[in-house]
Amino acid sequence: TQSPLIDGFGRHITYLRLSLTDRCDLRCSYCMPERMQFLPRAEVLSLEEAHRVAIAFIDRGVTKIRLTGGEPLVRRDMIELVRALGRRIGNGLEELTLTTNGTQLAEFAGDLAAAGVRRVNVSLDTLDRAAFERLARRDRLDAVLQGIAAAREAGLKVKLNTVALKGVNEHEIPDMIEWAHGQGHDVTLIEVMPLGEVDGERIDHYLPLDAVRRDLERRWTLTPSGHRTGGPSRYVNIAETGGRLGFITPLTGNFCEGCNRVRVTATGQLYACLGGREQVDLRAAVRSQDPDRALADALDEAMAIKPERHHFAISQAGEAPALPRHMSVTGG
Ligand code: GTP
Ligand code: 5AD
Ligand code: SF4
Repeated sequence: TQSPLIDGFGRHITYLRLSLTDRCDLRCSYCMPERMQFLPRAEVLSLEEAHRVAIAFIDRGVTKIRLTGGEPLVRRDMIELVRALGRRIGNGLEELTLTTNGTQLAEFAGDLAAAGVRRVNVSLDTLDRAAFERLARRDRLDAVLQGIAAAREAGLKVKLNTVALKGVNEHEIPDMIEWAHGQGHDVTLIEVMPLGEVDGERIDHYLPLDAVRRDLERRWTLTPSGHRTGGPSRYVNIAETGGRLGFITPLTGNFCEGCNRVRVTATGQLYACLGGREQVDLRAAVRSQDPDRALADALDEAMAIKPERHHFAISQAGEAPALPRHMSVTGG
């Protein structure tokens, strides 16, 4: 294989987050506005191009690929890409996975498992149907719960991602953890990040996880867990529920020192950091005369521009978010 991907701070990049679309069938209010302007389809990489990009990363030592969005399962024929990449598992690739809102998992769980996916992360912020509809602006909680059940039946390990939101799901967090652990799922709590304009102010719902953790410690026995998944989540075991709880704390606890990842948007733009402003155009590279060479050069360039860390701070009322791009564009 070719030379490994090592950035200017000595960090080894082994994890690619590849976004297949910026579109989504939900409208979670911390993520995007109701009237979201989506990318013109002509700008989006074809699945063949996305595959070629992914292979270029595997050839440079990436062992974990997570398909993201938007909602990856709304991309037509995405299962073909999953199958193609699944054939590289054991041959450079160690893990192929995805992050999904779960609404279509009931349809795809079996095909994903058959293609070699072992684990999926499903976003779920509340178990209350009315609260779900208010937050996601769509009445789809039942579909998500059916999707999670189907994933489990297909043999997929499920991790739930819950964005902690003041005045939205704050009081439900212990119940959600108990429910998830009762079903055998890990849960990770996430701090809301200032990415892209939404309707309303993120600060109104921002909940720092250090405070949530202190509350949970009054209720349960939390002990640090060595469990690592290669992402930013840091886990504890909860004695009373018998399950694992993760924390993703971009605002209250920076984890950039151990960063191992980059992301590529649906249009083939590589962001070496979620909080980065500079991008490298992999679409131009993959469409060039000599794609292999151009992609290798582009990945070297990405390593040179990867910043040491993000500088997120939660946006105050009336203030623009730290970054103009939405999470659904960058793929998280
Ligand atoms: P695992 O493989 O289970 O560790 O998944 P993961 O946590 O890497 O991925 P997931 O898609 O579940 O991401 C959960 C949350 O973490 C999302 O809100 C992501 O945007 C966020 N996240 C993932 N990587 C980074 C990162 O490098 N920086 C920041 N600030 N947030 C990240
Ligand atoms: N801040 C934090 N998490 C976000 N997500 C989407 N937008 C944001 C944001 N602004 C979450 C989704 C999903 C994951 C990929 O990112 O809920 O779980
Ligand atoms: Fe890595 Fe940037 Fe995420 Fe920090 S914010 S962990 S440097 S991608």
